[in-house]
Amino acid sequence: AGFVQVPKEFQSRVPPYAKLVGKLNKVRDITNNTPLTLAEKILYSHLCDPEESLVSSNLEDIRGLQYLKLNPDRVAMQDASAQMALLQFMTTGLAQTAVPGSIHCDHLIVGKDGESEDLPSSIATNKEVFDFLQSCADKYGMQFWGPGSGIIHQIVLENFSAPGLMMLGTDSHTPNAGGLGAIAIGVGGADAVDALTGTPWELKAPKILGVKLTGQLQGWTSPKDVITKLAGILTVRGGTGYIVEYFGEGVGSLSCTGMATICNMGAEIGATTSTFPYQDAHRRYLHATGRGVLADAADAALKNFNFLRADEGAQYDKVIEINLNELEPHVNGPFTPDLSTPISEFGTRATQEEWPQKISAGLIGSCTNSSYQDMTRAADLVRQAAKAGLKPRIPFFVSPGSEQIRATLERDGLIDTFKSNGAIVLANACGPCIGQWDRQDISKSSKETNAIFTSFNRNFRARNDGNRNTMNFLTSPEMVTAMIYSGNAQFNPVTDPIVLEDGSEFKFSAPKGQELPGEGFTLGREKFYPPVDPQPDASVEIKVSPTSDRLQLLDPFQPWNGKEIKTNVLLKVEGKCTTDHISAAGVWLKYKGHLENISYNTLIGAQNKETGEVNKAYDLDGTAFGIPELMMKWKDENRPWTVVAEHNYGEGSAREHAALSPRFLGGEMILVKSFARIHETNLKKQGMLPLTFANESDYDKISSGDVLETIGLPELVEKEGNNGGELDVKVTKPSGESFIIKTKHTMSKDQVEFFKAGSAINFIGQSRRA
Ligand code: F3S
Repeated sequence: AGFVQVPKEFQSRVPPYAKLVGKLNKVRDITNNTPLTLAEKILYSHLCDPEESLVSSNLEDIRGLQYLKLNPDRVAMQDASAQMALLQFMTTGLAQTAVPGSIHCDHLIVGKDGESEDLPSSIATNKEVFDFLQSCADKYGMQFWGPGSGIIHQIVLENFSAPGLMMLGTDSHTPNAGGLGAIAIGVGGADAVDALTGTPWELKAPKILGVKLTGQLQGWTSPKDVITKLAGILTVRGGTGYIVEYFGEGVGSLSCTGMATICNMGAEIGATTSTFPYQDAHRRYLHATGRGVLADAADAALKNFNFLRADEGAQYDKVIEINLNELEPHVNGPFTPDLSTPISEFGTRATQEEWPQKISAGLIGSCTNSSYQDMTRAADLVRQAAKAGLKPRIPFFVSPGSEQIRATLERDGLIDTFKSNGAIVLANACGPCIGQWDRQDISKSSKETNAIFTSFNRNFRARNDGNRNTMNFLTSPEMVTAMIYSGNAQFNPVTDPIVLEDGSEFKFSAPKGQELPGEGFTLGREKFYPPVDPQPDASVEIKVSPTSDRLQLLDPFQPWNGKEIKTNVLLKVEGKCTTDHISAAGVWLKYKGHLENISYNTLIGAQNKETGEVNKAYDLDGTAFGIPELMMKWKDENRPWTVVAEHNYGEGSAREHAALSPRFLGGEMILVKSFARIHETNLKKQGMLPLTFANESDYDKISSGDVLETIGLPELVEKEGNNGGELDVKVTKPSGESFIIKTKHTMSKDQVEFFKAGSAINFIGQSRRA
């Protein structure tokens, strides 16, 4: 009673509210009715067994300390990471997935001339991968969203995300779904396999960071500015270990898609995920996207059971306040998403920092910013400029997030507005956001610095056009669009006019848009839509050619031999080392399904602390090698190795190849000052030993070639109730001198089992067979 009856055809897309509220009531008993944040309500209502995970009635004893075993409701995978997820799923021998899954072909599509040219050639280039993914979807009963259908996060928002849902996605911007009140977490393929096999998925209980929004968004300021501002406050590490939960009256001035933009880029501050309480804006978006049933079900769960919002009096571990009335448009970058500059100061800063004065291209759309609201606001600026006779001064690209949004924009005349004003509308795919930009005006190897403005979410070096000297400045679609008419870093569209050819001046008015299309969304071309509830079909044969250089069936990693780990330090990395440094994207995306071939990209972006060189490591006799080449050599020589690095190692994406490749190449230990959460988990899942220095200064005492040997690993592994702890490591220099350093690990009981079995997949396979 009190819940809405959901018709059968909608059941896979409505969270099981009755079950979740039932679990939540158990949680309330255990925690003595302590007020809970929204994030805790959603997360804890997905616990397999609240009594096992919640060891104390005091939330302080849980947050940031306990490991939670969770049952996610669904899984979404993008084409690049799905390959390895599915290759791993195959090794478990199961006939179908335990929860609904969807596969999205978006990352492998090039952006150059527009959909009609780019899509057929990308499909031809990646045919065997798309065929493989489709055969897996057909065999195991998942939805297959083919090339051109759209970007994973936009499709998830339009179809699957739901208030109170908990989902995993094999992409670091999965938190985008939090814009619709879900808890959506970016993971590697091995974690996705947990959910797909019905194995409890483990997460260290996050702390909760409250972001209180006051005032109202207005004028030029957009949801993007909330998160670019927050990234400036918190930095790329500030959200690590937290779920970001937004609250306050300012939330009411945001659209659902705007909230998704904010949650999307929560990945840039290292947050586990971000979420919003259920709002009218959610109800409006659900109706507009044909999900009135879900809106009714969510309304009832909120009204009758106080689900989908934080409890009165819930405590956050930290609170940051942002006043939307005072918020200015921000521009973040270059090379890091937390270098945040208000637009009013950008010109001065660009001069001081010697950033290029000329902007070379503007790109809008992507999973972060291609909503109806974003595009109508951008198109409003294009129309204003056209009316004044202004033409873009630099190349302008638009990447729609899905066929649904593209077709709706086309119906409402916006695609035409963009195209007739010089924009290239690319396929509904990631394209330039992930290095698939076949850029014509500036070559990859150009040594000259150039600056682009994008509405994307990430701006590490070489990410967009493969050129290390391209500075990507992240901002709202409105700012990018205004900027293409000036092309100059000194231009502030909020205050500055543009001088027209006849010498007169034109000034933009603040952009006006529409939250949702007045006539509702249109689906567009039917061929892009898969059946709603696909069934598994055991007769389907998975397509992997034994001679393929892009797909390779997996051999399980060797189990741990029960002894101490003894390795040589192969490389000491200096400074920032993101997953892009560890496992480069761009041309390498091609080999995501072929572990051996892709491993030749391992750490090629890393800087050697001892020599300052990139992609250089030295053998014990001093011979120089490329980093992956030396790893291969040591693997052949049966010489296990360690990489030593600094802070936030593996920040960036959920890219599990950053863990798989080192393991495949004979790495056994990664020792750093700190890890990015997803990457650390990925290493554990592949049977590596990730350790952090107990004393950071010990980093300075270690050199490449040193021997590192654990002391007490067998005891640690046998210890009952593991939940992180310490491990001594003996360092022996080539001179014979030795000393002991203290390190820390964060392995839970289950993660210790992964380590023993050689990998999480091995462990799941063993448990299934037992
Ligand atoms: Fe694709 Fe870029 Fe988003 S790669 S999923 S559009 S972050």
